Amino acid sequence: MDSFLASAARMPALKERILDAPDQFRVLTGERPTGLLHLGHYFGTLQERVRLQNRGVRTFVVIADYQVITDRDTANNVSIHVREAVLDYLATGLDPTETTIFTHSAVPALNQLLVPFLSLVSDAELRRNPTVKSEMAASGRSLSGLLLTYPVHQAADILFCKGNLVPVGRDNLPHVELARTVARRFNDRFAPLFPEPEPLITDAPEVPGLDGRKMSKSYGNAISLAMTADETADVIRRTRTDGIRRIAFDPVTRPGVSGLLSTAALCLGSRPEDIADQIGDKGSGELKRLTTEAVNSFLAPHRARRVEMAADVALVDDILQEGNARANQMAETTLDEVRQAMGMTYSIRDQKRQL
Ligand code: TRP
Repeated sequence: MDSFLASAARMPALKERILDAPDQFRVLTGERPTGLLHLGHYFGTLQERVRLQNRGVRTFVVIADYQVITDRDTANNVSIHVREAVLDYLATGLDPTETTIFTHSAVPALNQLLVPFLSLVSDAELRRNPTVKSEMAASGRSLSGLLLTYPVHQAADILFCKGNLVPVGRDNLPHVELARTVARRFNDRFAPLFPEPEPLITDAPEVPGLDGRKMSKSYGNAISLAMTADETADVIRRTRTDGIRRIAFDPVTRPGVSGLLSTAALCLGSRPEDIADQIGDKGSGELKRLTTEAVNSFLAPHRARRVEMAADVALVDDILQEGNARANQMAETTLDEVRQAMGMTYSIRDQKRQL
């Protein structure tokens, strides 16, 4: 059984445990600010985070800005993407007084955990990570030191706050596995400081993009949460469908039509097949009209909340300041414990405390 199936098989029991004792769990999750968040993120992860938060699970969200440069040279527009992500978190229902929202680059002590953690993994383990391999292939570049080691950085994200539950899609599963390995080895070699985090695989369907491939900014097939209704109508209008008038759900032979049907179905809470039946012989024009209407009505309240919050220019900065301050505090505590465990207790900060 592959590790995805093995993890998936454990989900019902894990979900029970979360419902029974939410206070036993600490979630760390996040994403790279490489672009605007889209409907795939909304259905795939954002909603789930809000559900966990509202059930009483302590939640940390990293906006992984240092991870932007794993597979590209520049961090163009990173501050815009960070800002827009925070607006989407808030509009979805994350409460920054409950949930800590922070950025990698503002938490030096988190990044320092990378040094001991790197000593716990081998070159061969890093090189066989399937997600790193496919990201390298997709980037069309040679493997950078950061791309090779970012899963260890991700282990630091999870472990600095003693996260024990990581909601992930299939792509990030090998990284959670590595975080477990790092935690276990650190505990064995030095002192038992870290939990072994468990992956939480969400039930959310993978949201296909408008062309039927996975929804992704880089494929240009995504509906961003931040788009206006007109921009949404525009991307949907430009989707490639086919000339067959009868609309049917068939992702293999009719990816464009089926991508639109899936998108409309998610927003309407119904099934793509039923929407196809409803449209019948009215063709792609009607399918696009219906999908545009479904997406825009579904996102209208989210977008209204975003616009309202964006008008408060200090809001996002304040939330990040607060989140980063909390993350720094926690990371420094953990780093102190790590240095203690390693017998490195002569740092300047420790001396200052003794004076
Ligand atoms: N690699 C994740 C992504 O691209 C983002 C991420 C960074 C993350 N650190 C994390 C996810 C820690 C889960 C846990 O989506």
